[in-house]
Amino acid sequence: MKLIIKNGTIITAEKSFRSDLLIEDEKITHIEGNITIDNIESIDASGKYIIPGGVDVHTHLDMPMGKIKSRDDFESGTRAAAFGGTTTIIDYATQSRGMKVQIALDEWRKKAAGKSFIDYGFHMIIIETGKTLNEDIAELIQEGVTSFKLFMAYPGTLMVEDEIIFKVLESTKKFGGLVCLHAEDGNEIDSLVRQAVTNGNLSPMYHALTRPPKTEADAVRRAVNLADRADASLYIVHVSSAEALDEIKRGQDNNVKVYGETCPQYLFLSIDDIERKNFEGAKYVFTPPVRENHHQKALWDGIKSNVLQVVATDHCPFNFNTDKRLGRERFDKIPNGGPGIENRLHLLYEYGVNAGIISLNQWIEKSCTNPARIFGLYPQKGTIEVGSDADIVIWDPEMEHIISSTTHHMNVDYNLYEGYKIRGQAITVLSRGNYLVKNGLWVGDTRAGKYLKRYFYG
Ligand code: URP
Ligand code: ZN
Ligand code: ZN
Repeated sequence: MKLIIKNGTIITAEKSFRSDLLIEDEKITHIEGNITIDNIESIDASGKYIIPGGVDVHTHLDMPMGKIKSRDDFESGTRAAAFGGTTTIIDYATQSRGMKVQIALDEWRKKAAGKSFIDYGFHMIIIETGKTLNEDIAELIQEGVTSFKLFMAYPGTLMVEDEIIFKVLESTKKFGGLVCLHAEDGNEIDSLVRQAVTNGNLSPMYHALTRPPKTEADAVRRAVNLADRADASLYIVHVSSAEALDEIKRGQDNNVKVYGETCPQYLFLSIDDIERKNFEGAKYVFTPPVRENHHQKALWDGIKSNVLQVVATDHCPFNFNTDKRLGRERFDKIPNGGPGIENRLHLLYEYGVNAGIISLNQWIEKSCTNPARIFGLYPQKGTIEVGSDADIVIWDPEMEHIISSTTHHMNVDYNLYEGYKIRGQAITVLSRGNYLVKNGLWVGDTRAGKYLKRYFYG
């Protein structure tokens, strides 16, 4: 397959420039001022941006949670991702109790194979370890799973003790991998939740009130100390508060290799949302929780100053009208998680770039290039370079639309950003040179997404 994209403005993390681009056999093969070849398809991208496909390194597709599952599987989730300009995901394969991590990886491979429209990799959520920890980590790294999520929250189900975190840090240091941490102090939160329930404080708002910023910051501090002692790299997922950010910065200032990720829900939503009447607040129940408004400014500052390297979605959709209602009587029974895979680039573009908070290049850096770099996919993904995969988005900077669950493509009955006005849209999306979206219409007929074996560069 050969295709020329002409007259567009190419945006990378480093620069913006007018150029033509030639795609051959799934790769970008030429980036030059004027490419003309007879008898091959050519797209005129005048007035448009040519950006690398988005790389979302935090998704939970087809993920069991108790008796339910996250509502998007690899088919609906990756289709929605592509509509929003994301062409690579790294999904969290999840170990169940008593299950070897290799079996969990096989399960996730089966979930994705032949269903995913875009390329995908896996992290592994480890909830228990045994005598074979080092062998298991080494084996997964051989398979291209180079990042491992551990929970400091949810005692009794997902939480692991600091001793285990330290062991996994040592192991990843030895074999070449990265620990991703869900940093919330699970014991402290559990006792606050018990108190709230005992006192009859049961509405969704108490989800946020029982997980105050201090519980996040305390966990980040502990995690940074553990990484320092192990001399290992650490990636804090879904950073939501100014206090947690300060702890990451303190670690970075002390030469601990700690990366930070935030998500749109912490940049745009707040405690006002979880306080919505008629149980609507349940839509905004995810962890860490929404915060007071002032945290948003701190997080944007963290993005600009590079304390935070990545914006991912933590896409984990549950329906409002069924799943979220499981917690109608008690906030701690509401499934934790929210949708977002489709709207990350939209939101960062409109409320970041158009609002003058970040540059076009920072937009690409945080949502495409840095995630690819940190998680071992660069320069295959996350950039526009000769030799990179032709995962390309033609972005119309002027097209206006309104985010709504009535028009989105995610398989979930609400949108966290309902009614948000956006100027900027992914109008054409290519995955390895193959059209998924063409002039706004879905044309991706093959579920040709490939598993990405990743390498950790340190
Ligand atoms: O509430 C959330 N974030 N659900 C997904 C799992 C996680 O902790 O990332
Ligand atoms: Zn988490
Ligand atoms: Zn998550």
